[in-house]
Amino acid sequence: SLSSIEQTSNSSFIKKLKSTGRSLVVFYGSQTGTAEEFAGRIAKEGARYKMKGMVADHEECDMADLVEMKEIQKSLAIFCIATYGEGDPTDNAMDFYEWLQNGDADLEGLNYAVFGMGNKTYEHYNEIAIYIDQRLEELGATRVHEIGLGDGDANIEDDFVSWKEKLWESVCSHYGIEETGEESNIRQYKLVDCSEVLPERIFSGEISRLKSYENQRFPFDVKNPYLSKIAVNRELHKSGDRSCMHIEFDIDGSKMRYDTGDHVAVYPKNSSELVDKIGELLNADLDAVFSLLNTDEESSKKHPFPCPCTYRTALTYYLDITSNPRTHIMKELIEYASDPKDQEKLKLMASSTPEGKKEFHEWILRDNRNIVHILEDLPSVKPDLDHLCELLPRLQCRYYSISSSPKVYPKSIHITAVLVNYTTSTNRINKGVATNLLAQLIPTNDELPQPTIPIYIRRSQFRLPPKSQTPIIMIGPGTGLAPFRGFIQERDYARKEGREIGEMVLYFGCRKKDEDFIYENELQEYVANGTLTKLHLAFSRDQPEKKYVTHLLEQNADELWNIIGEKSGHLYVCGDARSMAKDVHSIIVKVVMEKGQMTNSQALNYVKKMEQQKRYSADVWS
Ligand code: FAD
Ligand code: 2AM
Repeated sequence: SLSSIEQTSNSSFIKKLKSTGRSLVVFYGSQTGTAEEFAGRIAKEGARYKMKGMVADHEECDMADLVEMKEIQKSLAIFCIATYGEGDPTDNAMDFYEWLQNGDADLEGLNYAVFGMGNKTYEHYNEIAIYIDQRLEELGATRVHEIGLGDGDANIEDDFVSWKEKLWESVCSHYGIEETGEESNIRQYKLVDCSEVLPERIFSGEISRLKSYENQRFPFDVKNPYLSKIAVNRELHKSGDRSCMHIEFDIDGSKMRYDTGDHVAVYPKNSSELVDKIGELLNADLDAVFSLLNTDEESSKKHPFPCPCTYRTALTYYLDITSNPRTHIMKELIEYASDPKDQEKLKLMASSTPEGKKEFHEWILRDNRNIVHILEDLPSVKPDLDHLCELLPRLQCRYYSISSSPKVYPKSIHITAVLVNYTTSTNRINKGVATNLLAQLIPTNDELPQPTIPIYIRRSQFRLPPKSQTPIIMIGPGTGLAPFRGFIQERDYARKEGREIGEMVLYFGCRKKDEDFIYENELQEYVANGTLTKLHLAFSRDQPEKKYVTHLLEQNADELWNIIGEKSGHLYVCGDARSMAKDVHSIIVKVVMEKGQMTNSQALNYVKKMEQQKRYSADVWS
């Protein structure tokens, strides 16, 4: 996982449970840290039910040891599992998933419960968690509580809290135990003063190795990103008040390689304005050097983020200070409120009563308050800064679809990113962390040090067909155009090398032709030189009624069927328009039905097969 640094060896979780008198293990499979956070909260609450708990990363455990869980009295294994992208497990849960699929372990005597994390805007909603829940039962394990499904597109915190409450009821009745009522407000990490630590031992934003940016070592990955120079940063919009950036990362000399369709991860940092504000509100010395040390000596995770460092470094590089905090943070803040009114408000938001949920929903989610806003609006709340650092989630890297082809640009990686800025109902301007940082990183012609940012390449499944002659349809409104710019470059290159290339049909949509038609000149050139066979354009706001790429698809059923049905071509969808990918899917099913003369279920099967054969791929985000 992103956040576990200084990992120890693969010791058996069963041994650990036994030697420390614990009966509850909460596994997490997480790409973003949410599952890890949820797992920690469940493990901690176990104490209320005389179930001492621990969290464990699938990746660090020999999951075959699950067969031994029955040797521990009244034991329970809980799985917090995220489903990622196109129905894939997270990297750290991959081995476990394969072990379940291929193995036939006898899991009789294992008690378990599963909480899934997914996103309803994606087609394969929570598929991995649902599979794991069923498979464990098939292998003989006992489900103590029914699966919970969290929807990251709605209110996953609410889904989790509601499930967790019922979980403990099931646990009590299953094991015949009663809640002890003991609240475990013990801290997971203890503060260590590091004022004497030598400067060269202090982290300054590195992800895991000290001085990793000064002394860069191949290979580069999630724990060892490459500090890339920004070679180009220019505006793509022609007018209007929104901004879309074309950025080129310089990877010359890095030995990094990418494929068309890959993603690049960017490590952002928080704005100094927000960081300073926290220092001011809490009257804290941000330059003090500290470390947080896990009080659980058995844990493989010694620190929540690279330590020692200054508070300023932690708040700038390691902690997420701009998302909406979850309810457990409200709960932990109660003790720091000196004004009873503030205390009541926090208590209400931390409670899982209907009124509490409503208040949390309105005051935190609807009004979009982050930790800074909460401290501003509840002025008597003054948490210890080190405790706050323990509670806040890790700052996550942001992904971008690479919008170049390595055939044409082996020494740079291009991205196409929309600047995120919006005003909240409390009249605050919230600024997207990564995009606002990128907006400031403009290279100059001077001798001055050029702007840099840490990146790494994440492989994707979004690939051109193996044969350059295979015809393709690309549907990419807005920044959904990004990976297709790479696809087109790649095939244009092949064509210029004298190879035969298949038809390329692009559907692009934006608001207004004269405003946000990005890469217009490039696209028109590809049409003129024959690389792009067809360019279908939908400008949604150039006329009174909305016009979307989906409307054009509906009109072009014959062309669609000709390419996907008659010529066995590939279809690609990319973009951030929430419902776009789903709409496209149903249009394609309809086209297959009508033009392929199939029943609805035959058409659904046909499209499913296209997906399995990688003839239908989506690269979508919300
Ligand atoms: P954040 O600080 O992360 O803020 C964004 C959050 O603010 C949103 O999640 C939402 O919760 C909230 N928010 C935003 N607007 C509003 C609003 N109007 N009202 C209320 N809340 C709001 N982005 C691109 O631009 N181009 C790409 O090619 C691209 N490719 C991607 C590929 C993948 C696989 C994924 C997962 C994402 C991709 N993204 C892409 C999105 C990108 O990763 C970032 O999420 C995006 O740039 C915003 O990051 P940020 O740090 O600037 O904003
Ligand atoms: P709109 O913002 O005017 O509604 C890129 O974001 C383009 O995609 C915009 O023109 C946007 O239109 C459009 N868009 C929004 N929702 C869509 C959907 N469900 N399907 C297709 N295009 C959509």
